[in-house]
This record gives sequence, C-alpha cells and structure tokens, in this order.
Amino acid sequence: MTSSFQSCLAYLYLSFLSFIIIPKTFAWDWGPVDTTEGFVSLPLDQSHYHIQRPYDVPEDQRYSFINGVHKCWVYSTDKPHTRTSQTKPRTEIAIQGYGYSSGVWQFEGYGYVPNGTSGVCIMQVFGASPPHATTLMIRVYNGSLMYYKGPVLVPNIYDRWFRLNVIHNVDAAKVRVYVDGHLKLVAEGRGGNSHAFKCGVYAQNDDSLCMESRWKGIKVLRKCD
Ligand SMILES: *[C@@H]1O[C@H](CO)[C@@H](O)[C@H](O)[C@H]1NC(C)=O
Ligand SMILES: *[C@@H]1O[C@H](CO)[C@@H](O)[C@H](O)[C@H]1NC(C)=O
Repeated sequence: MTSSFQSCLAYLYLSFLSFIIIPKTFAWDWGPVDTTEGFVSLPLDQSHYHIQRPYDVPEDQRYSFINGVHKCWVYSTDKPHTRTSQTKPRTEIAIQGYGYSSGVWQFEGYGYVPNGTSGVCIMQVFGASPPHATTLMIRVYNGSLMYYKGPVLVPNIYDRWFRLNVIHNVDAAKVRVYVDGHLKLVAEGRGGNSHAFKCGVYAQNDDSLCMESRWKGIKVLRKCD
C-alpha cells in the first residue's frame, strides 16, 4: 500500500516535472526563430547602397555583383577608401538612405567567407559615441565568427552560407545577433545617434593578405510602430 502510494506520488511528481521542466529545456534553443516577425522590409535597390573600396583602384577590381551575389575582396596592402582616410583597407557595401537614430532596425543577409580570410570585419553597425566608431562589428579570425575580438559567435564559419540577422534596438541600447536563426549574442549599445549598416571586408588586426566575403539577400528591416 505504502509503496504503491509512493510510486503513485513519484509518478505524479515526474509528470509534474516533465510539464514544468521539459518544455523549458526545449525552449532554450527551440530551432531557428523568425527574427523578422513584426518588422517591415524596406525597399533595397542599387540606389540604397554604394561601394567603398581602395580609392586608387576601379570598383570592378574589388567588387562584383553576379547572379544576386555581392562579392567584396581587398588586400592587406591596399590603400584606404579615401585619399585622406587613416583607416585600414576595405571593400564594403555601405547602405545609404536608411541612417537611423531611434527605433528598432534589423539587418539580414546571407554571408559566405572563404577559407583563409582572417583579421577582418565583415559586417558592422556604424555609429557610436566617441571614442568608439561602431555599435557592432562582426569579424572573422582564423575561421571563427566573432563579436569584435571575442567572444566567438560561431567557431567554423568558412566555406558555407550562413544567415546573419542583427537587430539594433536603439532606445533600449541593445544589439542582438542571430546566425541561422539562433541567438548568438546580446550586446550593449555603444551610444551615438547616427547609425547605418555595412557589410563586406574591412581589415582589422592580423589581417590575411587577401580578405573576401560574399553576400546575398541583403535586407534592411524596421520594426512596425
Ligand atoms: C583551410 O585551408 C587550410 C590550408 O589549405 C587547410 O589546412 C584547412 O583545413 C582549411 N580549413 C577548412 C575549414 O576547410
Ligand atoms: C589566428 O592564428 C594565428 C596563427 O596561428 C595566431 O597568431 C593568432 O593569434 C590567431 N588569432 C586569433 C584572434 O585567435
């Protein structure tokens, strides 16, 4: 009697646990999420971006757009994007016309980084409070996708397409980074009141001789009010 009463209690207890705990455990990383729900995708054609590249070479020596794929590459020995700039070389797709200072904005793009590219920023949320220039940099070092110089967001990123979603909530001063629909990072904003998205290759430290990233399906989205 006692033992069947106890096993009955144990059964109820386990059922209770499975209700309370198991769904929570699964909810921890419940497959890819649709980060664009509640956002509107803004029109994006060639009037909404320009290419920044080493100032002394023609655009087609560092950038191509074929079958919907943007390819950006740059060499560590290249010049900066303007004659007067002191920054390292870059070939970047700079989104224009969608600068923002408030609200919730999202960048979506499918990225590809070939093996060998290292020491480079491949996506940035431009604008911050000095001394910072950026709210977010997504970089690649030695095959890892990183938030600045760390932490690592995804360890093996070379030679495959991945979907990158970056959500910048300006008012809450928060940035969320999703890779293939999985939340990889929540970071603090870094101030500033003028932001814009960029992707491509922008040399950082320990940069490889050649740096390349490819992008397709680039979207700029804004949260509906
Ligand atoms: C990248 O290339 C190097 C040199 O060819 C090779 O040793 C390495 O395994 C490659 N890495 C990946 C992830 O393919
Ligand atoms: C990348 O690898 C090189 C060579 O092994 C190493 O010197 C460098 O510190 C590594 N960089 C990072 C950020 O891990």
